[in-house]
Amino acid sequence: MEISYLRISVTDKCNLKCFYCRPDSMEFIPHDEILRYEEITKLVKAMTRYGLKKVRITGGEPLVRPQIENLIEMISNIPQIEDIGMTTNGITLSQHAEKLKKAGLKRLNISIDSLKPELFYQITKGKLEDVIEGIKVSKKLGFKPIKVNAVVIKGLNEDEALDFVDFAIEYGVEVRFIEMMPLGQGSIRWDLDMVKPLDQIKEKIEQKFGKLIPTTSIGSGAARVYEISDYKTKIGFITPISNPFCDGCSKLRLTAEGSIKLCLRTDEEIPVKDIIRNGTEEDLDNFIKKVLIAKEISNSNIQKSNYSFSDCVRVMTSIGG
Ligand code: 5AD
Repeated sequence: MEISYLRISVTDKCNLKCFYCRPDSMEFIPHDEILRYEEITKLVKAMTRYGLKKVRITGGEPLVRPQIENLIEMISNIPQIEDIGMTTNGITLSQHAEKLKKAGLKRLNISIDSLKPELFYQITKGKLEDVIEGIKVSKKLGFKPIKVNAVVIKGLNEDEALDFVDFAIEYGVEVRFIEMMPLGQGSIRWDLDMVKPLDQIKEKIEQKFGKLIPTTSIGSGAARVYEISDYKTKIGFITPISNPFCDGCSKLRLTAEGSIKLCLRTDEEIPVKDIIRNGTEEDLDNFIKKVLIAKEISNSNIQKSNYSFSDCVRVMTSIGG
C-alpha cells in the first residue's frame, strides 16, 4: 500500500454549530497540544517518501486557525505535493479566498446542507448568504474544482436534491450528496432513521435530468461521480451507510493534536506528535511504515465486521470529514 492522500485537521474549533456534528459542549485541545505548521510540514515531507502527493486541509473549520495560508504555502513548496485542497464551511471564505489562492490552494469543498436560508440557519446557526458569497468570490478567483457537500438528512433537506443540482449548474460547481454517518454525537444522537439512501436521490435526479452518466473520476475520495449529459455538471454520491467503499481505501487523517487516524469508522489512532517533535528522520520513517501496516489491518478488520461503525468517541467536528 502507498500513501497518496492525507487529510490534515488543523483545529478542532469551528464557527458553526451543526446539530449533527457538534456536541452541545466541547473541550477544545489546549494550544500547546496542537501541531505547529512546521511540525505538520515535517510529517508531510516525510510522507512524500512513501508516495504522498495530495493533501486536504480540514478542521473543525480550517479558516478559524490564524494564518492558515502560511501552512498552505509551506506544503505547496514541497515539490512532490501535486495538489492541495480544503474542506471549509465557507462562512469566512470570501475574506480569505484571495490569500489562499496566492498560497497555492487549488481545490475547495464547501459544506452546504440546505439552500433555504432558514433551514440552513436551523441546521448550522450560520448565514447561508455568507457561504454563497464565498463561492462567488472563489469562482472568480479560479479555484477548481469547487465542490458543494450536502449531507442529506431524512425529513429535513431530502426534498432539496433537485435544487442542489440547479444550484450546481447555475454556479458552475460540483455537488456531492453524503449519507449521514454515526460519528460521535452532535447535540442529537445519530439514528438510522436520519439516513436517506442516496440511490433514491439519484433516481429523483434522473427523473428530471435524464440518466446520469458515470465518470471515472474516482480520485482519492469516496464519491461515485456522475455527469448530467446536457450540462457537464458533476454530481457525486458518498454512501458510507448504504454502500460502503472501504475496499482499497488508503485514506489517512492527521488530527490537530498529532495522531494519525486510520479510519473514520473506528477510534484507532496512532500518536505521532512526540516523534515529530523529538525523533529523527529515521524514527519518522519507521512510524510511517507502521502506519501502513496498521491501515491494512484496519481495512481488513472493518470488512470482516461487515463495515459496522464502532461507537466512535471522536466527534466529526474535530476531524472535519
Ligand atoms: N456524516 C456525514 N458527513 C458529516 N459531516 C459532518 N458530520 C457528518 C456525519 N455524521 C460533513 C459536514 C461537512 C464535512 C466536513 O463532513 O457536513 O460537509
